[in-house]
Amino acid sequence: MEKNVRPADIDLIYIATPWSLHAPMAVYAMNQGKHVCIEVPAAKTLDECWQLVETSERTKKHCIILENCCYDFFELLTLNMSRQGLLGEIVHGEGAYNHDLLNSNFKKGGYYEMWRLKENMRNGNLYPTHGLGPVAQVLDINRGDRMDYLVATSTNDFSMGAKAKELAATDDFYKEYANKTYRGNMNVTTIRTEKGKTIMLQHDVSSPNIYSRIFKISGTKGSVIKYPDPERIAFGDEKWISEEEFKKIQEQYQPPIIKRVGELAKQVGGHGGMDFLMDWRTIDCLRNGLPVDMDVYDAALWSAIAPLSEQSVANRSKSIDIPDFTGGSWKTNKPVDISLAKGGNTKVKL
Ligand SMILES: NC(=O)c1ccc[n+]([C@@H]2O[C@H](COP(=O)([O-])OP(=O)(O)OC[C@H]3O[C@@H](n4cnc5c(N)ncnc54)[C@H](O)[C@@H]3O)[C@@H](O)[C@H]2O)c1
Repeated sequence: MEKNVRPADIDLIYIATPWSLHAPMAVYAMNQGKHVCIEVPAAKTLDECWQLVETSERTKKHCIILENCCYDFFELLTLNMSRQGLLGEIVHGEGAYNHDLLNSNFKKGGYYEMWRLKENMRNGNLYPTHGLGPVAQVLDINRGDRMDYLVATSTNDFSMGAKAKELAATDDFYKEYANKTYRGNMNVTTIRTEKGKTIMLQHDVSSPNIYSRIFKISGTKGSVIKYPDPERIAFGDEKWISEEEFKKIQEQYQPPIIKRVGELAKQVGGHGGMDFLMDWRTIDCLRNGLPVDMDVYDAALWSAIAPLSEQSVANRSKSIDIPDFTGGSWKTNKPVDISLAKGGNTKVKL
């Protein structure tokens, strides 16, 4: 990148490159006076997580993690339900990125220079934020509670090494991938919070699973689960509420952001509309001087779960302390207002 290129008309830079470029590009952009939005995960190492925090604080530029799953319709409904007390005290959450990417990861001409396959030579939960983001928001992580420590376990690899060898047998292109060690099929990471809540995350991109982010939230009065379809809600007696009751709750607890731009988001699309909702909300916060929903402390913390889980896996699932990137501010920070969407002034032209 050329030095000292500072176009006056750029306010915000989106970074959607391979993971190893996220933090260096974000740090560079903030140092040039630009706000940044970074694809997930925002950083790969703990050092990079701290660099994001330190640079954002020093330059006073927003560093926003693009965790679009926080803006999916059921996740927003759940956040609003939990904020209104319908689920009682939230005790436990589960999230995942279980997505069969075995063929995609090995596809020639697919990911840029096979970057995603190479990332899978690390062992841990490499992609925690889709599952974790919405759960962390419901649990008020960094805003009333904090993650204390984690324990991670991985299975052996039963698919990727075998796939590499199979492809290399007939195609020299794959020879360099044939004798490598790959991450285990499944990684399970459990997190305990300072206030005694728990989070369970799964990560599997090489088994023939049906796509799932789980998204289970358990409270003292109710619980929800998103995957496998359909989304369900329960308030006890070991039964899910009926479709009719579900619709009533949906109407009553529909967050204002969905009422305001939900239909438009569905029309525009982008993972069913959640990408549009995230972008709309981000711009709305910036234009109205509102705190962003997913700040640099979330970016650092949610991304840090990958390297911390690698440390735990490498040490027989030893428990690993999770840094407090907020420097103690989690005790007084107020919960995010994502589902209530105060703002809402930004007009959208299609
Ligand atoms: N949030 C989501 O739902 C979601 C979905 C897909 C991908 N992603 C994330 O988006 C990012 C990109 O993933 P992808 O699937 O598009 O990968 P990809 O390999 O298809 O695209 C990567 C892009 O980065 C560009 N690039 C590489 N080096 C560069 C450099 N030095 N400078 C500028 N550009 C460079 C490449 O030309 C390519 O266009 C990843 O972080 C991934 O995790 C997120």
